[in-house]
Amino acid sequence: MDLPLIKAKPSYQQIKAVLNRIPSGDHVWDLDGDDEKRILNWLVGLIATNMEWIDNTDEKEELLVTICQMIAERSGRLAAPTKVRTFTMNNHKDIRILEPSLTYDTLGFKTWGSAPLLSAHLPEWETPNSSLRALELGSGTGLLGISAAHQLGWQMVCTDLPEIVKNMEHNVLENEDLVHENNGAVECHVLDWMNPPPDDDLPNWLAQPFERIIASDCVYETNFGRLAIALFLKYLAKDGIAITEYPLRQTHLGEIAEFEELMHEAGFVRETGEETGQEDFGSRYPVACRWSRWRYSNSK
Ligand SMILES: C[S@@+](CC[C@H](N)C(=O)[O-])C[C@H]1O[C@@H](n2cnc3c(N)ncnc32)[C@H](O)[C@@H]1O
Repeated sequence: MDLPLIKAKPSYQQIKAVLNRIPSGDHVWDLDGDDEKRILNWLVGLIATNMEWIDNTDEKEELLVTICQMIAERSGRLAAPTKVRTFTMNNHKDIRILEPSLTYDTLGFKTWGSAPLLSAHLPEWETPNSSLRALELGSGTGLLGISAAHQLGWQMVCTDLPEIVKNMEHNVLENEDLVHENNGAVECHVLDWMNPPPDDDLPNWLAQPFERIIASDCVYETNFGRLAIALFLKYLAKDGIAITEYPLRQTHLGEIAEFEELMHEAGFVRETGEETGQEDFGSRYPVACRWSRWRYSNSK
C-alpha cells in the first residue's frame, strides 16, 4: 500500500483515501506483518504532527478520530475499542457479536479462539433436536450458545459471571431471529462456578438435568477444571455428554492435564481431537485447540 510522505503534508483527501484502504474491524489483521508495521508507524507519525497543515478543524478531527481508532485496534486486545465481530456458520448465516473493550476482569467480553471451532463442530456431531436442553458454562459473548440454538434448535441456558451476562443478553437479542429460526432458544443466567446455588434451592432453570453441558476455553486457572467437573456431576443428565474445547496455551498445559486426569477419575470417557484456531490478542495468530466429547459412563 502506498503511504504519502508525512513530510509532504498530505491533504485531508489524500489521508482519507489511504485510511479508507487500511483494514479495520473484522479485517484488522488482513495484512502481513511488514505492511502492518509500516502502517502503524505512518499512523503514529501523523498523530505526532497533529496535522497542523489541515485548517478545517472538522476535517482534522474526523481524521484524528479514525487514526486513533486504528492505532488502538493495533495496540493489543486490551487496548482495542469495542467492536462487533461477524462469525459465519457452516450454513452461511452470520452471527454478529458485540465485544466490549476488554480488561483482565472481563475476559468474557471477547470471543476466544476455541468458540468458533466448537460452533462449527456441533452440527457434525449432533442432529437437530429442539427438545434438547443444554447448559453452557462461561459463555462469555454467547457465540457458542447462540450458534447451538440456531444450528441445532437446542434450548440453551448460557451462563457466566454477573458482569458478563449483560453483554451476552445483548448478543442474544441482536441474533434473536437466528436463535429462533430452528425453534431454538437461549436464556442467560449468572452461574458462578465458585458459588453455585445450593442443591436444595435450585432456580427453575437449573432444576432439571441437562442432556449436554458445553464449555469453551474454561480451563485456564488453577482449580477451574475441578470446579467445572463438580458442575458437570451436579447438572449433567445420566447418559448426558459434556463437550469441551480449549486452546493448548503453553502457559496452561498444567491446568489442562489436571482437568483431563480428573475427568477420567470422575468416570468420563471421551472422543477427542486437535485442530488449529485463530486468536487475536495483539495480532492474529494460530492456536492449537483440543476438543473432547465426554460421556459419563457411571450411572447416577
Ligand atoms: C477465556 S473466557 C471464554 C469465553 C467463551 N466461552 C469463549 O470461548 O469465547 C472464560 C470465561 O469464563 C468465565 N468465568 C471465569 N471465572 C468464572 C466463574 N468463577 N464462574 C463463571 N464463569 C467464569 C469468564 O467470565 C469468561 O467468560
